[in-house]
Amino acid sequence: MAHDHLPGPRTTVRMRINGEEKTVRVAPMRRLLDVLREDVGLKGTKEGCGEGECGACTVLLDGEPVCSCLVAALQCEGREVRTVEGLESHGVLHPVQEAFLQHGGAQCGICTPGMVVTAAWLVDKGLPPGGIREGIAGNICRCTGYGAIVDSVEDAIVRCQRKAGGCAQEGSEGGAA
Ligand code: FES
Ligand code: FES
Repeated sequence: MAHDHLPGPRTTVRMRINGEEKTVRVAPMRRLLDVLREDVGLKGTKEGCGEGECGACTVLLDGEPVCSCLVAALQCEGREVRTVEGLESHGVLHPVQEAFLQHGGAQCGICTPGMVVTAAWLVDKGLPPGGIREGIAGNICRCTGYGAIVDSVEDAIVRCQRKAGGCAQEGSEGGAA
């Protein structure tokens, strides 16, 4: 179990990450982002701004996208976290991940894990009235100009429509953790 460097007492927090029970002992205000990357070793989730502005650190908390740089570990007690690593299932990429690969939706890749997590959530939950661009508005990309990302999400929607039962259950059994 990794230790953080924040002052103050440590608290035991249990959460389910990508389908696996995890227990960490952390300062209560330790960020979920740091728990994921440093304590649990899931480096897929990236830090951009660290202030809730860029979306690079997006993960799903109880099925809803959150900026993990703004979530305290203590808030995750008993909850379900899914990271980009948890989108694949038994070695098969989520259709959103396949679509990003095919359309070149990633360049430097810093925004990509958060963008992919948001896109998978959109594909599952449905687009807002403003469509894909509104749906990914909380995820900032400095590199792509968004065209390839929008193409990727459009393609992922089609891929999921073709799948029997859609993509809602993708990664539900937990991916690599
Ligand atoms: S690193 Fe969390 S929103 Fe930018
Ligand atoms: S690919 Fe570089 S920030 Fe999006």
